[in-house]
Amino acid sequence: MQITVVEHPLVQHKLALLREEDVSTNKFRLLTEELARLLAYEATRDLKLETKTIQGWCGAVEVQKIKGKKLTVVPILRAGLGMLNGVLDLVPSAKISVVGLARNEETLQPEPYFEKFVGKLDDRLALIIDPMLATGGSMVATIDMLKRKGCQQIKAIVMVAAPEGVKLVNERHPDVQIYAASLDSHLNEQGYIIPGLGDAGDKIFGTK
Ligand code: PRP
Ligand code: URA
Repeated sequence: MQITVVEHPLVQHKLALLREEDVSTNKFRLLTEELARLLAYEATRDLKLETKTIQGWCGAVEVQKIKGKKLTVVPILRAGLGMLNGVLDLVPSAKISVVGLARNEETLQPEPYFEKFVGKLDDRLALIIDPMLATGGSMVATIDMLKRKGCQQIKAIVMVAAPEGVKLVNERHPDVQIYAASLDSHLNEQGYIIPGLGDAGDKIFGTK
C-alpha cells in the first residue's frame, strides 16, 4: 500500500480538532504544525543510520548517525509552509526546497509560479509537505520537478488525502510513499476533499 495512515491517538485527536467548522486561524495553524511534527516522525522512521566513532566523556564511543546528505523538506506553497516548522522541529538542519503551485479553481490543474531547489538532490531524501492531497495534480507536479533535478528518494507528508489523489500519485510515481493522518472519502464537484478540512491555505493564512 502506497499510503501510510498514521493511526496514533494524538494524530487522530488533532485531526478531529482541525475538522471543526469554527476552528480559528490561530488554532488551525498550531494544530497543522503539531500534526506535521507527528507525521514527520513516522515518515522518518526508516532513515538509514551509520556507525561512527566519536570522543565521548569517557573516551571513544560508537554511535549511530543518520547516513548521507541532510534531507530536504519541500513545502508546496502556500499551505505547505504551515507544516514546515513542525517538520523542522525534528530535523532542524534539513535544507529547504520550495515549490510554488496554485491549483486553477476551474481546471483543477496546478499552475507553477516558483521553484527553488537545494543542491545535490541525487543524494538526499526529499520530504514533500502539503496539508491536502486532492486530485494529486500538485503532488505529481512536485515529484516530477524533483525527479527532473535528479532526486531519487521522495516521500510525501499530507494531513488529509483523497483516494483520487493517492491513485494518481500511485500510477505516476509508485516509488513515492505517502504519509497521512486520514484517507478521506472522495472529492466533491469543486475538487474539495470530503469530509476534508475545507481550504487549508485559507485557514492557515486567514484569507477569504
Ligand atoms: C491546495 C493544497 C494543495 C493543492 C491540492 O493548494 O494545499 O497544494 O491545493 O490539490 P490537488 O491535489 O488537486 O492538486 P492551492 O493550490 O489551493 O494553493 P494554496 O496552498 O496557496 O492555498
Ligand atoms: N485544497 C484544499 O485546501 N482543500 C481541498 O479539499 C482540496 C484542495
